[in-house]
Amino acid sequence: MRLRLAINGYGRIGRCFLRALMFSPLRDRFSVVAINEPSDLESMAYLTRFDSTHGCFPGSVDVGDGRLRINNEEIQVFHAREPAGVNWADLGIDILIEASGRYSFRHELESFLGAGCERVLLSHPGNSATDVDRTIVYGLNHDLLTGTERIVSAASCTTNAIVPVLSILDQAYGLDHALLTTLHSVMNDQPLIDGYHHADLHRTRSAMQSMIPVSTGLARGVARLLPDLAGRIEAKAIRVPVVNVSAIDLVAHLERPTTVVDVNALLREAADGRNSGRMSYTAAPHASIDFNHSPHSAIIDAGQTRMSGDRLLNLLIWFDNEWGFANRMLDVAACWGERMA
Ligand SMILES: NC(=O)c1ccc[n+]([C@@H]2O[C@H](COP(=O)([O-])OP(=O)(O)OC[C@H]3O[C@@H](n4cnc5c(N)ncnc54)[C@H](OP(=O)(O)O)[C@@H]3O)[C@@H](O)[C@H]2O)c1
Repeated sequence: MRLRLAINGYGRIGRCFLRALMFSPLRDRFSVVAINEPSDLESMAYLTRFDSTHGCFPGSVDVGDGRLRINNEEIQVFHAREPAGVNWADLGIDILIEASGRYSFRHELESFLGAGCERVLLSHPGNSATDVDRTIVYGLNHDLLTGTERIVSAASCTTNAIVPVLSILDQAYGLDHALLTTLHSVMNDQPLIDGYHHADLHRTRSAMQSMIPVSTGLARGVARLLPDLAGRIEAKAIRVPVVNVSAIDLVAHLERPTTVVDVNALLREAADGRNSGRMSYTAAPHASIDFNHSPHSAIIDAGQTRMSGDRLLNLLIWFDNEWGFANRMLDVAACWGERMA
């Protein structure tokens, strides 16, 4: 039986999730029955049809009777700003894809359960580990899902990119300490030109004119998934004026010596083997735009691997922060669904 999904917040991730699902081999496992988004129906249909980053929707998008019809599938649309503003119970929602980014605390997320959703899958990390029942990076720890969870986080795009790489390095060489710098594309929480847009002053500055340092919970996010590395990872993030595709610059001090050739061979083997479909590897000369619409969570740029001495490693890892992450959310939803059966 198909699981009934709803999407709360139909922005970049909400729309990417829907598009990824519509053309996925996992398609038959789900029906999208509802979308809740403050914007109006016509605008929602328009931004489904036309996407400046991922191109035109390769199917049909219509509106009628207050519904969105995508590939002839009817989706009910709501415009509430509160979880209780939709009668989710009447819709029989098995999993709510929470992609508004507005809810991080358990008591907030439980409002969706109280309003009738069976389960919530979050497109960002919970405020703390205990605000969700599990934080899942598909490919790393999805086997922990039992199907009994009510609130699961699919972590973040950056966590999905870096955690598998750190885990592989730690197993092969022992990870002493690491520093991560995320170069992240602009997001809708930044203004196009300077404006009173956000309480964080960095996010009041024009997204397209500057590289802008912003706060990040990535170090905490890594420690949540790889507790043995807690206290040994630090991170910072810089928003850069590109509309999509991000990178992580990783500096890692290893416990055991190695070489550039050895590290690249290790990561290539992982990308071709057990991490296939989620990690990839390239030795070609690239610019970030080359990875737009890549479904991978991490692309190892082998030509940028460096070592200072035999223990200080520097890696460059690319990822499509929208499309890669939306595909991992879909993987988590499918895996969770299997376990519910
Ligand atoms: N973009 C990425 O690369 C990326 C990657 C991984 C994870 N994420 C995470 O995914 C979440 C969404 O990010 P995004 O980039 O998709 O943001 P976005 O483009 O701003 O989309 C969020 C959408 O949710 C709507 N919304 C706001 N409050 C709502 C509410 N109370 N109920 C229902 N809908 C509401 C927003 O409408 P208004 O604009 O009218 O408020 C907007 O249309 C964030 O937590 C983000 O950290 C983003």
